[in-house]
Amino acid sequence: TAPAAVIVAIDGPAGTGKSSTSKAVAAKLGLGYLDTGAQYRAITWWMLNNGIDVNDAIAVADAAAKPVIVSGTDPAAPTITVDGLDAAGPIRTQEVTAAVSAVSAVPEVRTLITDLQRSIAAEAPLGIVVEGRDIGITVLPDADLKVFLTASPEARAARRSGELKGKEAGDLAATREALIKRDAADSGRKTSPLAKADDAVEVDTTELTLEQVIECVVTLIEGAGAEK
Ligand code: DC
Repeated sequence: TAPAAVIVAIDGPAGTGKSSTSKAVAAKLGLGYLDTGAQYRAITWWMLNNGIDVNDAIAVADAAAKPVIVSGTDPAAPTITVDGLDAAGPIRTQEVTAAVSAVSAVPEVRTLITDLQRSIAAEAPLGIVVEGRDIGITVLPDADLKVFLTASPEARAARRSGELKGKEAGDLAATREALIKRDAADSGRKTSPLAKADDAVEVDTTELTLEQVIECVVTLIEGAGAEK
């Protein structure tokens, strides 16, 4: 008989290594990979391109269903398009990063994106690793394994600055401030805030290498699979 699909939810704040870990784990185990933050970034990019005031929740809600967002789930080459346009580069700009918490706090946006995420997860033949903020609690509450990654604000800011190429030294403090502000907005919003599910395994990555985190999550998935 074919093995049952394995659904893995990986949540946590920015800079904890969610994307690097989720991609590597999915590639190792032959699972799909979905970056749900990229979807919120993509809808935010569309709002900015279309002159929608991202702080006007009514305008954002009214426009939310217009963009067509498509995510490719190959962990070796994840893709994201908006109305057929490649959005992978533009969704990483500071402009989008600064606007994404406001857009993702709008309930209509979350309902649409959550439905999209569930249908992508349901279609993954062998299973999927889904990373985000509300996956374990709201999007996939029946996931086979839920992981909640954490790290100190210093470690998270250092990792995030390392990712932002061409930045001057000294931007670390600014990166740290922006990251803390975004986490506070994501954790404090009314609809589906960033939070650890009661049945999630918390992994503090502050003192761990990426390889160690990957190893840890693979071991947890193998354990969860054995229980099925
Ligand atoms: O993971 P990221 O930094 O690319 O996510 C960008 C933003 O998207 C994050 O600040 C909050 C939002 N987000 C969300 O609200 N729910 C998710 N499941 C994933 C991301």
